[in-house]
Amino acid sequence: MTQSTSRGDDADWWRESVVYQIYVPSFADADGDGMGDLRGVTDRLGHVAELGADAVWLTPFYRSPWADGGYDVSDYRDVDPRHGTLEDFRELLESAHALGLKVIVDIVPNHCSSEHPWFAEALASPPGSPARDRFVFMDGRGPDGGEPPSDWQSKFGGGVWTRVPDGQWYMHIFAAEQPDLNWENPEVAAEFESILRFWLDLGVDGFRIDVAHGMRKDLALPLRDTNGSDSAPLNAPPEGHDHPFWDRDEVHDIHRAWRKILDEYTPPRIAVAEAGVGQARLPLYTRPDELHQAFNFPYLRCPWDAGAYREVIDSSLEGARSVGSLPTWVLSNHDVVRHLSRHALPAGTDTVAWLMSDGREPAADQEAGRRRARAAALLTLALPGTAYLYQGEELGLPEVADLPREALRDPMWERTGNTRRGRDGCRVPLPWERSGPSCGFGPGGSWLPQPDGWGEHSVEAQTGRPGSFLELYRTALKTRRSFTGDESFTWLPARDGELAFRKGALECRVNLSGAPLPLPPSEAGPLLASGPCDGRTLPPDTAVWLDAQPR
Ligand code: GLC
Repeated sequence: MTQSTSRGDDADWWRESVVYQIYVPSFADADGDGMGDLRGVTDRLGHVAELGADAVWLTPFYRSPWADGGYDVSDYRDVDPRHGTLEDFRELLESAHALGLKVIVDIVPNHCSSEHPWFAEALASPPGSPARDRFVFMDGRGPDGGEPPSDWQSKFGGGVWTRVPDGQWYMHIFAAEQPDLNWENPEVAAEFESILRFWLDLGVDGFRIDVAHGMRKDLALPLRDTNGSDSAPLNAPPEGHDHPFWDRDEVHDIHRAWRKILDEYTPPRIAVAEAGVGQARLPLYTRPDELHQAFNFPYLRCPWDAGAYREVIDSSLEGARSVGSLPTWVLSNHDVVRHLSRHALPAGTDTVAWLMSDGREPAADQEAGRRRARAAALLTLALPGTAYLYQGEELGLPEVADLPREALRDPMWERTGNTRRGRDGCRVPLPWERSGPSCGFGPGGSWLPQPDGWGEHSVEAQTGRPGSFLELYRTALKTRRSFTGDESFTWLPARDGELAFRKGALECRVNLSGAPLPLPPSEAGPLLASGPCDGRTLPPDTAVWLDAQPR
C-alpha cells in the first residue's frame, strides 16, 4: 500500500527532498482523447507516492492554444479543456495532499500567448498606447522601419522580432505566438502577483518559475546587437555577462517581491527558478530573500566523466553554500534528450545532429546508457539537496529519437526550417501497462506515437521485478529517506575515474573508470548497488551506497 511521504508542515521540507516532474500532456489520460489530463494525474498519483517522492511539479495545464506545449498561456487562472477543469485541479490537489505529496505548479511570466486578451488589445491599439506598453513593441530600423530593431535571436530559431501590420515590431524570446511581457510596466507585475495569489489561495505548495532569468530587458536605444551570442541551446547560459535580455540584475527585484508573497503563507510556499545561467550566477537566484532553489543545469549537462562530475558537484555545493541554500540535482526534464540516451552516446556527441539522424548516427550503446543512468540515479540521490526526477526516468525510458517527422509538435521543428527536431522525443506518453491502447496511458491513443516495445518499460512490467529500474528507484528513495537531514558532505580518497564521498552517514561510490575497481572491505556489504556487485569489486558504470556508520 501507499505510504504517506509527507513531512507535514515542516517549512524546510524542500531543502532535501525529491520532486517528481509531471509533464501533464504525457503522464496519464483519463478521458481517452490521447492527451494527458489532470484527472489522469490524480488517478496515477499513487505511483508517485509509492515511489517515495515528496512533491510533484506539474508543467503548465492552463488555457493555451498550444503553440509551445502549454508554455503559451492565454488564461493564467483556468485549466485548458484538453487537460480538464479547475474542479479537476482542486481534486488533484486534495488527493496529492492526502497522499502526503506537495504540489508545485509552473508559472510562465516572461511571455504569454498571442491569444491572451492583453495581446489582442495591444494589436488593436495604436503604437505608444498603454495596451502596447504591456509588451515590448518597438519601431524597426532602416529608412522605413522594415529592419528588426536588433539582431537578437530566439531560442526556437529565427529572430526575436515579428512585425505587425502597422509596422511596429514585438519581441518574443521564444515562438512568435509567445510575446514577451514588459516587466517594467507595473500592471504586468501586479497581474502576476495576483496570479500567484490565485494559485496559493487554492492551496499549491510552490511554483516552478519558467525562464526566471529572462524577464527584464535592456531596452535603452539604440538596442545593442548581440552578434549571435544568444544562440546557446535552451537552458544554457549566454556567453559573457551584461546581455540585453538574459540574466539581468534587475530580474532579482521580481524574485524578491515574489518571495515576500510566498512568505505570507503558512507554512511558507516555495519557488524554484528555471534559470539557464552558469554556476557563478546561479546562486544569486537563491539568496535568502529570493527564490528557494534553482535547477542545476550545469549538473544536467555534465558528461560521464569523474573529473567533470567532481568539479560540478564542488561548484554547486560552494555556490549554494555561499547563499545559505542547498543545490538541486537534475538529470533530465521535458526540454532535453533523456539522460539514458545521452549517456549511451560517445562523449561529445552533438545531440541535435544525432536527433536529425533519427538516432542512428552515431549508434547509441543502450546497455551502457542503462548502466550509467542507473548509476547516475544513485549518485544524484546521494547528494545533499533536492533531486528533481523527470517522469519516466524511474522506468529507464530512452529518448525516442525516431518519431515520425509528421508527428513532431515542438515549434522548434518548424521555426528552424526543419533543421532541429526539438524536444518531442523525451515527451512520449508514459507506458503504464504492458499492452492495451497506448500502454495504459489512457483508453485512447497518444498524442505522440509510442514506439514498439514501449510496454516493456511499463510500471506493470517492472513492478516486483528484481533489478528493474523502477525497483531500483523505489529502494533508493526509501533508503535515502533515512539519510536526509544531515547535509554534511566530504569527498573520500578515490582512484582515477572514481567518485567517492559521504553525505552524512551515507557513503556513495561510483565507478566511471571503464574498469573494475576494488571496494573497501565492509562487513555489512553495500546497502544498494545500481548493478550486479559482489561487495568486493565495483564494476564499471556502477554505483553503490554503503552505510558509513552501520547501525
Ligand atoms: C522553458 C520551458 C520550455 C518552454 C520555454 C518557453 O524553458 O521549460 O519547455 O518551451 O520555457 O516557455
